[in-house]
Amino acid sequence: MYRAHVLVCGGTGCTSSGSHGVMDGLKSELKKQNLDDEVLVVQTGCHGMCEMGPIVVVYPEGTFYCRVSKDDVPELVEEHLLKGRTVDRLLYTGEGDVHVPHYSEIPFYSKQERVALGNCGYIDADKIEEYIARDGYEALGKVLTSMTPEDVVEEMKTSGLRGRGGGGFPTGLKWSFCAKSPGPKKYVICNADEGDPGAFMDRSILEGDPHSIIEGMMIGAYAMGADEGYIYCRAEYPLAIKRLKRAIDQAEEYGLLGENVLGTDFSFSLHVKEGAGAFVCGEETALMGSIEGRRGMPRPRPPFPAVSGLWGKPTNINNVETWANVPSIIRRGGAWFASMGTEKSKGTKVFALTGKVKHTGLVEVPMGITLREIIFDIGGGILGDKKFKAVQIGGPSGGCLTEEHLDLPVSYEDLAKAGAIMGSGGMVVMDEDNCMVDVAKFFLEFTQRESCGKCVPCREGTKQMLLLLKKICDGEGTMEDLAQLEELAHMVKDMSLCGLGQTAPNPVLTTLRYFRHEYEAHIKDRSCPAGACQALIRYRIDQDKCKKCGLCAKNCPVNCIDGDRKTQFVIDEDACVRCGTCYDKCPFDAILKL
Ligand SMILES: Cc1cc2nc3c(=O)[nH]c(=O)nc-3n(C[C@H](O)[C@H](O)[C@H](O)COP(=O)(O)O)c2cc1C
Ligand code: SF4
Ligand code: SF4
Ligand code: FES
Repeated sequence: MYRAHVLVCGGTGCTSSGSHGVMDGLKSELKKQNLDDEVLVVQTGCHGMCEMGPIVVVYPEGTFYCRVSKDDVPELVEEHLLKGRTVDRLLYTGEGDVHVPHYSEIPFYSKQERVALGNCGYIDADKIEEYIARDGYEALGKVLTSMTPEDVVEEMKTSGLRGRGGGGFPTGLKWSFCAKSPGPKKYVICNADEGDPGAFMDRSILEGDPHSIIEGMMIGAYAMGADEGYIYCRAEYPLAIKRLKRAIDQAEEYGLLGENVLGTDFSFSLHVKEGAGAFVCGEETALMGSIEGRRGMPRPRPPFPAVSGLWGKPTNINNVETWANVPSIIRRGGAWFASMGTEKSKGTKVFALTGKVKHTGLVEVPMGITLREIIFDIGGGILGDKKFKAVQIGGPSGGCLTEEHLDLPVSYEDLAKAGAIMGSGGMVVMDEDNCMVDVAKFFLEFTQRESCGKCVPCREGTKQMLLLLKKICDGEGTMEDLAQLEELAHMVKDMSLCGLGQTAPNPVLTTLRYFRHEYEAHIKDRSCPAGACQALIRYRIDQDKCKKCGLCAKNCPVNCIDGDRKTQFVIDEDACVRCGTCYDKCPFDAILKL
């Protein structure tokens, strides 16, 4: 029995900011102070607030320390664990420089509802006992001993859970298709490819709570009559793969995985397959091809995986977050899950909140919460108190929404109406300095690069669209180019084979819908209203503000600022390479960015 538990975040974010050093430091300092029998150090998964890492939480008080370094450890042990005094300087600092000691009082957490992330940050993912102590594998026991496979599918239908991998297909319905498919051999797959740039929802669950995925998959396998499963995880997630493999070994040792689970007729074996990180391999048919050892390329559907999937056998594929929700649904009931969210979007959703927002990180919120609440209440508003401009939701193939959508409930149906998609949960916030044409170009560059090249509309269409976007950003576009861009966007959307091509034009189409004036400014006025497109920026010197200090001229890398103290300093616009150095160096804000 320990009198205190010190939870040190061992997620990828905190690991890269030095949490291993903190953990080792804590262990040796506790030993030095003869406290190692009284205080237990536990390595946990991600808490979501990675930018404030390394995170350390001390229980029973639940004191939340951030940006802890190994040099802080002696003070933390001496003050908090020996003398019972909080180390204020390591607490989260809220508005008005007030220290906030507890998790629940930090605005970032106060509106969150953690189901899929329920164990992340609380348990040591390497210890199955800690998962079991938080009701882990109880749901598996329940289905194997008191529910028929049909009951399980019905419970999933009652929950209203929809696939969290992007498409939002109702999970219970999908399971019923595979359950009805005849055949002695069936597979279940966990899609842990997570290819969206900036997304780390799935990685955090894989690293912080791998058993919830294993348990979810086993419940699904029982419901659908499968006896084998694959977790397809990108090789760039080494920590996730390590923890998954360890979790599988432990579950097997405990008799929770393998032959005759818990003494029943149900047997299940589970493998981890490492993917090479191609975005298109997240598409389900490409993913199965990759598991089979072929090149990951989508194929037309039907047949759907439920009928003919892995090696031609009925297969059910779900996303990491989808599987991670299953044990809680079975334990607490489908109706409990359905009590959260909106009419057509039940439960909670995890988002990776990034971009120009004060508090970036991983948040899990009930469906139906507004964008304003996520960005301003949880995210703390716009960085540098600049003006909110847009939010890109749904990853590289999502859409950009504007200020008028801030009170839009976040649900599959409302986002679709506004032209965006839930996607897997990427949310990038943009401010007045972001050029929306440039943003569309950025996302299209990604999808174009990741196109597998199998079908012409996606392979060639996205390439042509990108060329047109580059032309517009360089100030060389015409109104005919704009019309062609729009036409191509619709063509690629309608005619591509798989979801990559079908959704790649979304950033272009939504920015055209809500920010057409910015495209037109690039073309008609040869100007970038946000001042972001380098080719369209002009630097001039405001002679009223200029104090003739000459710093700009001294720092200009191409010596294109002429003048002296007696006359004026003037920029030769033809020679200027628009590097912005003079703008940054002038102490009197006399350089104008036009
Ligand atoms: C280009 C492309 C990439 C995808 N990447 C992922 C991914 O990384 N993870 C994922 O779960 N689903 C991804 N999907 C969706 C999957 O094809 C599939 O719909 C999903 O895994 C089904 O699980 P769900 O019903 O739980 O959402 C992707 C789809 C496309 C078209
Ligand atoms: S739409 Fe693009 S990614 Fe999908 S099959 Fe066609 S070329 Fe490949
Ligand atoms: S933007 Fe760069 S190149 Fe142009 S005048 Fe300023 S310092 Fe010189
Ligand atoms: S990795 Fe530690 S809070 Fe995310």
